[in-house]
Amino acid sequence: MESSRPDALFSDPYAAHLGGATGVAFSSKMKGIMPWPEFHITWMAIRTRYIDERLSTFCAAHGSSFQCVILGSGLDARAFRIPQLATARAVYEVDVPEVVVAFNRAMARLEATAVCPRVALALDLSTPDALTRALRAGGFDKALPTFWLLEGLTMYLTPDVKCSSRSTRSPHRVPTSVRASSLTPQVSRRT
Ligand SMILES: C[S@@+](CC[C@H](N)C(=O)[O-])C[C@H]1O[C@@H](n2cnc3c(N)ncnc32)[C@H](O)[C@@H]1O
Repeated sequence: MESSRPDALFSDPYAAHLGGATGVAFSSKMKGIMPWPEFHITWMAIRTRYIDERLSTFCAAHGSSFQCVILGSGLDARAFRIPQLATARAVYEVDVPEVVVAFNRAMARLEATAVCPRVALALDLSTPDALTRALRAGGFDKALPTFWLLEGLTMYLTPDVKCSSRSTRSPHRVPTSVRASSLTPQVSRRT
C-alpha cells in the first residue's frame, strides 16, 4: 500500500503479495480504532523508513564485515529489498516454525532472491537457549558487528523472555553492534 503512494517513505515490492486481501482487510478494520483513521498506516510507514535508514547506515559503515539478526521477523523482506545488505555475511531471520515455513514458501513462489546469505531460524524465543544454539548452528559470528532488530516483537514476549533474550544477545555483542527495537506495551490477556 505504502509503496504505491507518490510520496512513499519506502518501497517493498513484496508487501502486497505477502499481505494480500487479508492484509488490506485487516488494515481497513484498524481504521476504526483511533480518531485518526490513517494512524496505523502512517506509524508503520515511519517506523519502516526509520529502521531501513538505520540499517542502511549500519551496512555502509561496516563494509563486508557485519551481520544482521531479525527477531520475530514475520514477513520482513529486508533481506530481499535492502540493496545495502548485499555485503552482509548473513541475515538471520528468527520466528516460530509456522511463520518461517509460510514466509519461505511465499518468497519461493514469488521467485524472490535474497541480496545476501539468508538463514531462517525456526524457534520459539521463549525456549531457553534456543536462540543461542540456533545462531551458533547457523554460523553466527559473535565477533562481528551485528544489527539486532526487534520490530513489533516485544509486546508478545513476557518480561522474563525479554530479559533472557537480552542476556542471550549480550555475550554476542561487540561494541560496534546496534540494537533497533520498537517498544509497544505488553499485550495483556484477560482471564
Ligand atoms: C507483529 S509481528 C512483527 C513482524 C515483523 N517484525 C514486522 O515488524 O513486520 C510479530 C512476530 O513475532 C513472532 N513471535 C512472537 N512471539 C514469538 C516467539 N516467542 N518466538 C519467535 N517468534 C515470535 C510472531 O510469530 C510474528 O511473526
